[in-house]
Amino acid sequence: MDLKYIKQTIADGVCRIQFNRPEKMNAVNSDVLRDLETAIILCEDDQQVRSVVLTGNEKAFVAGADIGHMAKANIGDAYRLTDLTMRVQERLADLPKPTIAAISGYALGAGCEIALCCDFRIAADNAVLGLPEITLGIIPGGGGTQRLARLINPGAAARMILLGDTVKSAEALAIGLVDKVVALSQLENEANSLSAKLARMPALAVRAAKTAMRRGLSMSLKEGLQIEQGLFCMLFGTRDQKEGMAAFIEKRKPVYIGE
Ligand code: COA
Repeated sequence: MDLKYIKQTIADGVCRIQFNRPEKMNAVNSDVLRDLETAIILCEDDQQVRSVVLTGNEKAFVAGADIGHMAKANIGDAYRLTDLTMRVQERLADLPKPTIAAISGYALGAGCEIALCCDFRIAADNAVLGLPEITLGIIPGGGGTQRLARLINPGAAARMILLGDTVKSAEALAIGLVDKVVALSQLENEANSLSAKLARMPALAVRAAKTAMRRGLSMSLKEGLQIEQGLFCMLFGTRDQKEGMAAFIEKRKPVYIGE
């Protein structure tokens, strides 16, 4: 797919979405966000896509929202930008397929927020993550105050959000902001192997599990347990459930078809 600011490729069930604005450290403006939205919609629609990797380049995953654009913004512009940002990020977070942020270099502001919308975050050893908006006189406007505070411990979140402190990959791992740190040279391999593994999983069960986890977080435990029960029972109508259990009994590897 030809987009100006995103390179998108699909192979073996895995869609790779690469930010492509290297001259500005992949900073996102509304054009980049619209390209990202187009790429996400393709992932929603294309049944071949069973897992998604978002990545940048060696120097930057995404170095934030475009400060040049924001510097001239008024209140109305800020609403328009955050409406678009929230729409695209919710679309990414709600994608019914597993997503991986493969982060090298800077993942700041909107870059960190986009990574927070993914199910997995793998960082290269040169990664630097942060929400430096406060140092520009604003606060994170793409879900950072909400998603970071729900993911990591409150003190570490406050330090990043109130002071704008950035964290390198080892600290990001220690505070639970990323799931794994690998050498920069291994980042692509690591993301490829995780995404390939996810692509082989029973897609409807993966979708159900993601839905249960995501929706459950904004509900009471009782409501979340009911959501889980409904999804669990629904899976007994899938061919992959029959295949998975038959394969276990027949002592062979299951082959899932996503139905
Ligand atoms: N918005 C717009 N442009 C950005 C940007 C952003 N968030 N981040 C980087 N760029 C641009 C720089 O302005 C520069 O463009 P120029 O060559 O036309 O001047 C180019 O990307 C390279 O960045 P530069 O600052 O020269 O690289 P560096 O290696 O010295 O520093 C960063 C990299 C990421 C530390 C630094 O660019 C930075 O602090 N960026 C802003 C991060 C931020 O605050 N993000 C949150 C925004 S809400």
